[in-house]
Amino acid sequence: MTDDELLDAARTVREMAYCPYSSFRVGAAIIDEHGSVHVGCNVENASYPQGSCAETGAIAAMVAAGGQRIVKIAVAGGETDKTRACTPCGGCRQRINEFADENTRIIAKDDDNKWHSYTMAELLPSSFHL
Ligand code: THU
Repeated sequence: MTDDELLDAARTVREMAYCPYSSFRVGAAIIDEHGSVHVGCNVENASYPQGSCAETGAIAAMVAAGGQRIVKIAVAGGETDKTRACTPCGGCRQRINEFADENTRIIAKDDDNKWHSYTMAELLPSSFHL
């Protein structure tokens, strides 16, 4: 699976986002240690804090399917991709970190179709582990 194919999966599931409050659609696609792809979209709620992020949904789908490691995750945010590529929020960085290592890559594209690629360590340095 190429990076573009993984991002395409994130862009496709982004269309399923339930985001009547923010109108900000997000899709995430994970490739796991078995080579399987798991996707998620944001699901908002009238009680705002009860909403969940796309990455959270993709992680839940991965674990439910038997995956335990995130090899790579692509995130597609916004109706189009903004000039600043959508990167995971702070909470999702911690959630991704649970199933990642410092070299795991988080990838996104901006409006100019330019890749932005980060390691887990770049997005969440000195992260918390038990
Ligand atoms: N959102 C995500 O799904 N992932 C992120 O990493 C950032 C934010 C969602 C949450 C909310 O539904 C909307 O984007 C606007 O914040």
